[in-house]
Amino acid sequence: MARDFTTVGVIGLGTMGAGIVEVFARNGLDVFAVDADDAGLAHGREILAGSTGRALARGKMTQEAHDALHQRVTFTTALEDLAGCQLVVEAVPEQLALKKDVLGRLDRIVAADAVLATNTSSLPVTEIAVATSNPKRVVGMHFFNPAPVQQFVEVIRTVITADDVFEDVKALAERLGKKPVVVGDKAGFIANALLFGYLNHAVAMYESRYATREDLDAAMRFGCGYPMGPLQLLDLIGLDTAYEILDTMYKQGRDRLHAPTPLIKQMVSAGMLGRKSGRGFYTYAAAGSPEVVPDRQTPSGGVPDGVALREVTRVGVVGSGVMAVGIVEVLARAGLAVTYVARSDEKVEAVRASLVAGLARSVEKGRLEQAEADATLARVTGSSERKALAGADLVIEAVAEDLAVKQDLFRDLDRICRPGAILATTTSSLPVIDCAKVTSRPQDVVGMHFFNPAPVMKLVEVVHTVSTAPDVLATVQQLCATVGKVAVTCGDRAGFVVNALLFPYLNDAVKMLEANYASADDIDTAMKTGCGLPMGPFELLDVVGLDVSLAIERELYLEFRERGYAPAPLLEHLVTAGYLGRKSGRGFRTYA
Ligand SMILES: NC(=O)c1ccc[n+]([C@@H]2O[C@H](COP(=O)([O-])OP(=O)(O)OC[C@H]3O[C@@H](n4cnc5c(N)ncnc54)[C@H](O)[C@@H]3O)[C@@H](O)[C@H]2O)c1
Repeated sequence: MARDFTTVGVIGLGTMGAGIVEVFARNGLDVFAVDADDAGLAHGREILAGSTGRALARGKMTQEAHDALHQRVTFTTALEDLAGCQLVVEAVPEQLALKKDVLGRLDRIVAADAVLATNTSSLPVTEIAVATSNPKRVVGMHFFNPAPVQQFVEVIRTVITADDVFEDVKALAERLGKKPVVVGDKAGFIANALLFGYLNHAVAMYESRYATREDLDAAMRFGCGYPMGPLQLLDLIGLDTAYEILDTMYKQGRDRLHAPTPLIKQMVSAGMLGRKSGRGFYTYAAAGSPEVVPDRQTPSGGVPDGVALREVTRVGVVGSGVMAVGIVEVLARAGLAVTYVARSDEKVEAVRASLVAGLARSVEKGRLEQAEADATLARVTGSSERKALAGADLVIEAVAEDLAVKQDLFRDLDRICRPGAILATTTSSLPVIDCAKVTSRPQDVVGMHFFNPAPVMKLVEVVHTVSTAPDVLATVQQLCATVGKVAVTCGDRAGFVVNALLFPYLNDAVKMLEANYASADDIDTAMKTGCGLPMGPFELLDVVGLDVSLAIERELYLEFRERGYAPAPLLEHLVTAGYLGRKSGRGFRTYA
């Protein structure tokens, strides 16, 4: 008969433990909350009170429910007080010896049929289990941070776990309103195995000063719709915990991409553990506070000393595809006079028609006044002649992603445009310097990588080459702000920030599927409900297109020669078979 859990225990009341206590108590279970000492208890109490207090203040919980929740929790430093619990979850720090010791002691205290669960993020549950007298009743119950918010729970079943144990734990997780997925015992399970390579990579970019912390975080928030950037997330997770997770994953898989970036260890040694210590990649108002306060690294936001901005009032756009039309709309709506150039009169007309249709849709949806739409259109002029760009202060090209085509265009622009005009490419994969070098003014050439659809997506990656002049960079950054975009600045290498962080993760997801560790549905669920991502990796791959994804992965691999970036064979096979995602009706999933 299935266990009916009414009294449970939680050991370790830090970032995770205190949240797990709340999840249980909110759902009517009596909870014994244990920490090593009084300071630990006080800290746990504080986290719990803070979280429930916020829920109360926001009207998400009644006073009655709030008080009842607290009454169900008993705080204690005595492990013996857990004797009557039917299930105990440990959430002590991510150290194997400590977890084995805690469960070993617990094993002698609780009843024979009680379930012992570990909230480890990466350590081998099997090894923790065999430290007890009855490994069959040990299971992983991996909650996500913050536990009261994130719906996902990984239930880790070792080769020894009894069927009824993981089934009962899964049923309990469902009762708690969570979405549990049962997985095998492999370092990082589903979500962390996919997440931590990405987080580690972001730290490496930060450590090498490829982009600032603010830009790295903004890139993933505004380019991918992530709820938090990678460095913000690491601060939330805790850098000590993150280090242990990466270290365990590296030792198990020997994947160099999981070897903790040296900076993480340095920060841990310096006591910069993230939010919980008040200082991590960012500085917080106090230990445990979510409020970021300015510090030495906070950008001033102004134009650098000694740099004078170039004036930009007349802008040119070259191209007639989706990106070009979107960029014309963004610029014209912001009040700039835009001249666009397409290859023929028909294409000039087609661009105008798409523009008119796009604006009409916005008016229909009540996002734009008709008068504003008319004024926007009045600012736009089309031409089939490149020489129409002679007077532009800035030209953005969005022609075909083909280097020869782009170089031909840049040679022409160099001839046609006035001295001092800025020439920008919106390439997502070609080196910007290859466009710059065919002109006589490489200092005026810059990348402006817009995201699709340009009127909606906030992000623009502003890419400087080794030749780009500081005033060109500052002018383009300023222009992005003027037209309502978030500019992040990075160097000229494959994938820039977003694709370089995103695609290796997507590739890892394909490799996980290929290895039959989890299904596409479970992996998508893990990343959406565990990490709050807007789409799971397979949903996203099918939307982006498998051929496009494969091309980006190949480029990343060729640029960095990282073994881990080599495209997963399964992706190659799907592309070969013509399964390209939604656009072909079949990718990782089949569409109607
Ligand atoms: N931080 C995350 O985002 C996250 C997410 C999921 C799972 N986890 C896992 O949860 C576990 C806890 O991580 P955390 O981030 O909450 O760590 P933390 O450092 O915030 O909290 C650990 C708590 O354990 C207490 N503790 C230490 N030794 C103890 C002992 N012998 N007996 C009782 N309590 C003891 C500490 O006082 C502290 O309150 C780890 O296994 C971690 O991998 C963490």
